[in-house]
Formats: sequence, structure tokens, C-alpha cells
Amino acid sequence: ERGVDITQLRGEMGLVTLDPGYGNTGSTTSKITFIDGEKGILRYRGIPIEELAEKSSFPETAYLLINGHLPTHTELDDFASELSNQAMIHEDMKRIIDACPATVHPMAILGSMCLALSSFYPNSININNKEEIDHTITLILAKMPTIAAFCYKKLLGQPYVYPNSRLSYAENLLQMMLARPSEPFVVDPDAARALDLMLILHADHEQNCSTSTVRLVGSAETNLFATIASGICALWGPLHGGANEAVVKMLQRIHEEGGDVEKYVAKAKDKSSNVRLMGFGHRVYKNFDPRARIIKASCDRVLSKMKKGDALLDIAKRLEEVALADEYFVERRLYPNVDFYSGVIYRALGIPTNMFTVMFAMGRLPGWIAHWKEMLETPGRRIGRPRQIYTGPAKRRYLPVSER
Ligand code: ACO
Repeated sequence: ERGVDITQLRGEMGLVTLDPGYGNTGSTTSKITFIDGEKGILRYRGIPIEELAEKSSFPETAYLLINGHLPTHTELDDFASELSNQAMIHEDMKRIIDACPATVHPMAILGSMCLALSSFYPNSININNKEEIDHTITLILAKMPTIAAFCYKKLLGQPYVYPNSRLSYAENLLQMMLARPSEPFVVDPDAARALDLMLILHADHEQNCSTSTVRLVGSAETNLFATIASGICALWGPLHGGANEAVVKMLQRIHEEGGDVEKYVAKAKDKSSNVRLMGFGHRVYKNFDPRARIIKASCDRVLSKMKKGDALLDIAKRLEEVALADEYFVERRLYPNVDFYSGVIYRALGIPTNMFTVMFAMGRLPGWIAHWKEMLETPGRRIGRPRQIYTGPAKRRYLPVSER
């Protein structure tokens, strides 16, 4: 009656299941990241996130995710120096950034520039050459922080600051964003460590929206630059990576309106308001998000070490307290996620709100790359191609325009 053709409900393996939002659909097997949403467990290649947060560095964690094992001393040194050596971008890329309007969102430049890298490194299009793949992986990890920092300088209208091969990955990112060419700039080691931690915590999270996008786009044998660009686009949305920006905007609004967190929580419960408590809720974590716990603990540490206070941190803590005591959030098992406190740390580091999702993307690069590589290396892999249940009109006659 609704035009459903029953034969369309049959896939080649049997009935097609309809699972909006893929809540219960496994799209792949994977050896990269383990999550237990009930117990709040997150492990990269079997290693608990808490241990990596305490002991690892972002380049080491990236190596682990992409290659499946912790690097030896020599492997890590080689990997880190390759990332430094390749950090410069082609001068013509600067011209593309220059040509963007001043109103551009940095995520728009980031995605476009990632795609543009494929034209500067055309060999990357060959995904059947292992050496070429490894080289492309290095290029992405090395050049994207430079591109990210240049995006920010573009928004400020300031001269670009070039990468410095004597600095670590996180130090470099900070100095390229925050230094001015004419003024001396010393990277604060506490700030660099805090940024390194944020990158580690964001490095992978199995089949989230952007990673699933990467696997789907990559399944068409699309090159890595274009595939990562698709991940960046998916991450931009406020229900995914864009949430960290949305959280800080929400906290600012509450602060400006007098700090009434109860009023805001009431609004977030009211479905007709179209307001959600940003940074709350997760598809998988139903008791707590282990990353949020680590970030919350480091917020106090970072702010006190850097001798900074932040009224927004106080509002965030009160908001969490009120929401976690509220039946609406308890019943639905909505807890702070990774984005709830991350913006507070970024602010303390001097990173502006519109760069938050870019920072998330910098952290997520190894995860996207690891999933793309794993997918390509899967024997018998197939192009991703979900089915649908058609609910449109049944067969209709074409009406010539004169009869409409
Ligand atoms: N505030 C208020 N209500 C919420 C929130 C929230 N943040 N999140 C979920 N709900 C409610 C929904 O309205 C729904 O209520 P109902 O059962 O009465 O209809 C119920 O909780 C279930 O929500 P869904 O949207 O079905 O949950 P889903 O798993 O699809 O979405 C998501 C998860 C997108 C994270 C959601 O919780 C949300 O929008 N949160 C705010 C945005 C956010 O923080 N995103 C970042 C996620 S983490 C990341 O991407 C790194």
C-alpha cells in the first residue's frame, strides 16, 4: 500500500534489517580499539587509555594505532623525525588558504586543504603500493598540523609561522598557532603536555560517525587524502566533533545570562526547546566516558599549573552536578562525554573556540588512518553499500508539464 516492494526487503544474505543510526549494526570487525560502554573501558590495541594518557606521547600512540604495536626506541625516533621533516607545506598551498574569505570556518579550510594535498602528491592516488601508502600516511600526520595552524593565522590575518624541527609534535602545533614571527615565543611545557594528552584521548574511538565515513569512502578505493577529508567533514557536525565548540558556546551563554544552570538544564529537558545539553550523552558510553574523567581531572591541574582560573569550568562542574542529579538524565543514562571539558583545556592553552574541532581532527588523524589501512588490508573486502527500505510512492505515470 505504501509502495514497499517486498522483494526489496531481501538482501543477498536474507532479510534486510532496518537499524536507524546503526545502533546495533556492526559494519566491520576490527583489531584497533576496544570499547565497553557499560564499564567505561577504552583501549587502543589492547592498552588502556588511562595508561596511554599517563605514559605515552601522541606520536607514539599514533604509531601504535596505525601499526598495531608500540614502537621500539629507533622506530619511534625515525617516525617522529619523519613527522618533523615533512611538516612544511608547498608554498602554493598557502595561496589556496589566502584565497579563502575571512569569514571561512577553519574546518572548511582544513577539509579542502586535505583534499588539495592529493594534487600536490599525485602518487598518493595509487593505493596498491605499500611504500606510497606509508609515505602518504606520514605526509598527512606531518602536514595537517601546519595546515591547521595556517588556517588559524588566516582567520587572524597574521603571518604564517613555519614548523620548527627542534620542537615536538604538540609544541610545534602550539608555536605555529600562538607565536608571532616578530616576537619571541617559548612553548610552555605544561601547555604542550596538556595538548599532547588531548591528542592522545581523541586518537581513536572505533566506528563513530567520522571513522565510519572514512571506512565507507575508503571502501571505494578512494585515496587517503580524499578519504581523510571526508572524515573531517563528518567530524565538523555539532552532534560529533563540533560538540566541543558548541559546549563552550553553551557555557558562555549560561555565564552571560547570569549562570543559572538549573534553568538551562530545564530547557535541555524540554523537547520543544530544541536545546540539548551539549557534551552530554553518548551512543556507546552509558555510565561514564573514561576520556571525560581524564580530561576533567587534568582541567584543574592545567588551570592551576598555568595559574589561570576559568568561570566556565565552574559552570561546567555545576551543570554536571545538576544534570547528574536529574531524573531525565539519569533515566536516559546521559553523562558528560569527551567534549564536555575539552574546550575548557583548549581555552586555557589559548586556543580559540572556532579551532576546537580542528584540534579534535588533529587528534583523530591516526584513528582514521588506522581504520583506512585495516580496511584495505582485509582479505575479501567489499565496497560499503548499505540497503534501504523504500517508502516512496508506488509506480506513477509521468505527467507532462502541460497537465500539471
Ligand atoms: N541533552 C538532552 N537530551 C538528550 C541529550 C542531550 N545532550 N542526548 C540525548 N538526549 C535524549 C534524547 O532526546 C532522547 O530522549 P527520548 O528518549 O526522550 O527521545 C534520548 O536522550 C536518547 O538520545 P538519542 O539522540 O537517541 O541518542 P543517540 O545515541 O542517538 O545520540 C548523541 C548520542 C548524538 C551524542 C546525543 O547524546 C547528543 O546529541 N549529545 C549532545 C551532542 C554531543 O555532545 N555530541 C558529542 C558526542 S561525543 C563525540 O562525538 C566525540
